Amino acid sequence: MKKYKIGILGATGMVGRRFAALAENHPWFETVVLAASSRSSGKRYEDAVAERSDRSFSVPAAYRDMIVKDAVADKKEIAERTDFVFCAVDMKKDEIRELEEAYAKLECPVISNNSACRMQSDVPMVIPEINADHINIIPTQRKRLGTRRGFIAVKANCSLQSYVPALHPLKDEFGPVKVLVCTYQAVSGAGKTLESWPEMIDNVIPYIGGEEHKSETEPLKIWGRIEDGAIINAALPSITAQCVRVPVSDGHLAAVFASFEKKPSREEMIARWSSFAGKAQELKLPTAPKQFLHYFSEDDRPQTKTDRMSENGMAVSIGRLREDTQYDWKFICLSHNTQRGAAGGAVLLAELLCAEGWI
Ligand SMILES: NC(=O)c1ccc[n+]([C@@H]2O[C@H](COP(=O)([O-])OP(=O)(O)OC[C@H]3O[C@@H](n4cnc5c(N)ncnc54)[C@H](OP(=O)(O)O)[C@@H]3O)[C@@H](O)[C@H]2O)c1
Repeated sequence: MKKYKIGILGATGMVGRRFAALAENHPWFETVVLAASSRSSGKRYEDAVAERSDRSFSVPAAYRDMIVKDAVADKKEIAERTDFVFCAVDMKKDEIRELEEAYAKLECPVISNNSACRMQSDVPMVIPEINADHINIIPTQRKRLGTRRGFIAVKANCSLQSYVPALHPLKDEFGPVKVLVCTYQAVSGAGKTLESWPEMIDNVIPYIGGEEHKSETEPLKIWGRIEDGAIINAALPSITAQCVRVPVSDGHLAAVFASFEKKPSREEMIARWSSFAGKAQELKLPTAPKQFLHYFSEDDRPQTKTDRMSENGMAVSIGRLREDTQYDWKFICLSHNTQRGAAGGAVLLAELLCAEGWI
């Protein structure tokens, strides 16, 4: 099989390095370009990565000597050499949007981890198990951008990658109407490690800029529908969120409280979680977990350290299902923020787009 040639924009960063690791032995993708800022361009990839503080990452052998390109200045060359690019750059929102649209207009599809284009009504924001059908909005976006091949597809924020999958199998039958969620988010979500962020040791920071708004609104786009050339957000459930940073390296855990139009039984909830499979499983995409949702009956699971790497960090773990005094049910769920929540989720989306013929 001919492999798709890919580029990674932001390849030296926390998410970009995960992209590089996931792409190294990918059956469909071959990395031909690694790009970052002008600070890194012209350097060997290994040297550019070594200048960043996290030394725990071992650079895949195949990429060590690749010369890093400038994601902005070299975009024409990068677009010509690749079938599509992954994008995870730390820049101002309007600059990211300009950059991603420029690649799309150069007829190079962009699979993005950034939030800059997420709420645009013709940009699909996809969790392949949940709303794979949203990629059908791409022709509308291509019309706006004036492209034949280029488009932008995005993945959602990492904070919601545990509780949206947990609520989704309950949606059609039981209709969640009111959800309260508190997230306990790892330091890698801020592009940092415990070594590079010593203030986090023995500490909890009760603020992550912009995260609560994303956690409350992005699920409604994911559960939205395509109508008249736009993705129309779902009206329910109404979600309220508090997001805090905790001193763990990887893994975002969420405490969820939910009330439903029709209250499901405990057995019904566990049965829906255990049997749930989406388009990613149906198409047997290479990065898809075999079982997307793992339910634990033990009182002390899921735990961040023990369970975050479930199915290579692509599965979601759920546990502690109990009736609540104010909401119908409460439970805990967990997903790996830089795997399912970032690079892995984007790789899975790219696989979906390739399998369905959009790339
Ligand atoms: N970490 C997560 O769990 C996570 C999850 C979901 C989404 N995201 C999003 O993914 C993006 C990247 O996050 P991260 O944690 O990987 O950040 P990061 O570790 O700080 O890496 C940022 C990357 O962007 C590059 N960059 C910075 N300024 C640039 C410029 N002017 N032109 C081109 N490249 C530039 C950096 O290159 P240099 O090395 O040359 O500076 C580096 O490769 C952010 O938008 C973030 O919100 C992160």
